[in-house]
Amino acid sequence: MANEPKIALRCDKLHRYLGQAEGRVHVLRGVSFEAQAGSVYAIVGPSGCGKSTLLYLLGLLDQPDGGEIWINGRLMSNSEDSVRTAARGEHIGFVFQFHFLMLEFTAMENVMMPMRKLGKLSPIQMEERATQLLDSVGLVDKRHRLGTHLSGGEQQRVAIARALANQPTIILADEPTGNLDVKNAAIVFDLLTSLAKDNGQAVVLVTHNPDIAHRCDFTRPMRDGLFV
Ligand SMILES: Nc1ncnc2c1ncn2[C@@H]1O[C@H](COP(=O)(O)OP(=O)(O)OP(=O)(O)O)[C@@H](O)[C@H]1O
Ligand SMILES: [Mg+2]
Repeated sequence: MANEPKIALRCDKLHRYLGQAEGRVHVLRGVSFEAQAGSVYAIVGPSGCGKSTLLYLLGLLDQPDGGEIWINGRLMSNSEDSVRTAARGEHIGFVFQFHFLMLEFTAMENVMMPMRKLGKLSPIQMEERATQLLDSVGLVDKRHRLGTHLSGGEQQRVAIARALANQPTIILADEPTGNLDVKNAAIVFDLLTSLAKDNGQAVVLVTHNPDIAHRCDFTRPMRDGLFV
C-alpha cells in the first residue's frame, strides 16, 4: 500500500552483556523497537539503563548477544563485518554528544569525509553536496574554517551536516545537545529534526532533556535494559 509507513529500523529482543567474569552485566534484556521513516524518537531513562549500548547496536557498531536488527528490511545482526560496515556507511548517520569532528580539518573536509569513504560521488559532486549541507545548517560562510575555530554549537551543526552526508535513512544521535547551552540545543535539535523530516529519515535520539523529548514524535522510556 502506498501510504503504509516504511520501517527504517527494527530490532527484536536484543540482548547484550558487557564486562567480564563477576563484573559481567546483562545490560540489554530483550529490547524490541521500531522506527518509521520520517519520525523522530526520543529514548529516555536514567543513567546506566542501556541507552548508549542500544544505540551502538542499532548503529551496527557493536554486536548483540541475542536478538535481531533489521535495517531497511534487511537482517543485519548476523551479517559479516564487511556487510555491516558498508550498511553503516550508506544507511546510518551518527551524531554524538562530543561531535568527534576532526578539528584540524575544515568544516567542508569533515562533511566530505563520509562521502569519500562511500566513494559514490566525484570530487566536484562531493564539494557541491558538502556546501549545500553546510548551507542547510547555516554555516556556508564558515565552511573553510578549521574545526578548532568554530564554537561548540557550530561544531555540532557540522557534525549534523556530516551525519547527513550520505543521505542515510536512519540518524542515531546520542545526547546530541547534551554539551550545548539552551539556545544552541534548540537550534541543533530543530535542525536535526527538520532536515530529517524533509528527507524522510528516521531519527532516534537519546536525551536527558525533557523539553527535547517532549518535542519528538514518540518517547520511549527505558529502565534496566528494557523499554517500559
Ligand atoms: N565495557 C563495559 N563493561 C561492563 N559494564 C559496562 C561496560 N560498558 C557499559 N557498561 C554498563 O552498562 C550499563 C549501560 O551503559 P550505557 O552506556 O548504555 O548507559 P546509558 O543509559 O547510555 O547511560 P548515560 O545516560 O549515563 O549515558 C551501565 O550500567 C554501564 O556501567
Ligand atoms: Mg549514554
